[in-house]
Amino acid sequence: MIFKQLFDTETWTYTYFIADPITKDAVLIDPVKSHIDEYIALLDEHGLKLKYSLETHVHADHITASGLLRQKLGAETGVSQLCGAVGASLQLQDGDVLEFAGGEKIKVIATPGHTKGSVSFLWRDRLFTGDSLFIGGCGRTDFQSGDAGALYDCITQRLFTLPDDTLVYPGHDYQGRWVSSIKQERTTNPRLAGKSREEFIEIMNNLNLPKPRLIDEAVPANRYCGLDEDERQDAVSLREATRPERVSISAQDLVSMAKQQITEIGVDKAKQLLAEGGITVVDVREESEYAAGHLDKALPIPRGVLEFKVGTTPELADKAKTILVYCRTGGRAAMAAQTLQSLGYLNVLSIAGGYEAWQKSLQ
Ligand SMILES: [Fe+2]
Repeated sequence: MIFKQLFDTETWTYTYFIADPITKDAVLIDPVKSHIDEYIALLDEHGLKLKYSLETHVHADHITASGLLRQKLGAETGVSQLCGAVGASLQLQDGDVLEFAGGEKIKVIATPGHTKGSVSFLWRDRLFTGDSLFIGGCGRTDFQSGDAGALYDCITQRLFTLPDDTLVYPGHDYQGRWVSSIKQERTTNPRLAGKSREEFIEIMNNLNLPKPRLIDEAVPANRYCGLDEDERQDAVSLREATRPERVSISAQDLVSMAKQQITEIGVDKAKQLLAEGGITVVDVREESEYAAGHLDKALPIPRGVLEFKVGTTPELADKAKTILVYCRTGGRAAMAAQTLQSLGYLNVLSIAGGYEAWQKSLQ
């Protein structure tokens, strides 16, 4: 196998390249947009085909190359479904296994905390931790739905329980270090070794870090896998140009298309999130439907007025907060979720089956 650890000197970002010279399958993890020509040259040099371009999370400090790699090379782009990255072709979940090169496996391990949708990838004895776990540190938890307690839990319970000699490849290093191991981090990481959950949270809450330079540009772009508006338009134009003939689209088609771009969750998961708190619930049915019964604390904002209400609804001011939408059976909510995503909301979820499914679960 070919394995390369690539480095972006601008943002101190590590990108990982895994490839099989026999089957020619290749995988990139956390590619940086400004290096796309190098990745293509690397693939060409070995005659490889990029199968997956994976993200450990929606980055705030650099723009990903994934969207362009999909456009140019047809690679599948994978991001956690909790990231709200509408442009990704694979919405990853904890436990997913991505296969390549006839038997190689990359396992997805949810490691929320730096961001809600952060994941680590385990390939053979190598763990790609993104910004969840660094060498002698970890990613910040003070924006993008960060949660220090969740980070402590997943690092100590999910990552530190991997075999000691598992190699840890981080998403960044600011001191020129390349690789560590689970044993090294478990025993020497100053934020975690011997620290209680409370001590860790105390450390993380007092880092007082400046806002990342590129956050306002990078996060919205990375929700579309790094494509800027022109490139997104190019993709639409290309689809239009290659569409054999213009066909009229039904409401059901629109709902189906919306569902491909949003994240639906089941009633049980919705109940769990509601119990955990910290989310905003939006009922997008008509007022009369709402009046006949609705979820506790749900805001009544009918689908038809959603775009006009978001700016004046205080509960929707924070675009990083999780928004849970529902309607009667899931169609209007899918459209509403898609709209919210295009308005910049990062974590939008829709209840599959809507209020009817919710009611059924209570019977
Ligand atoms: Fe990050």
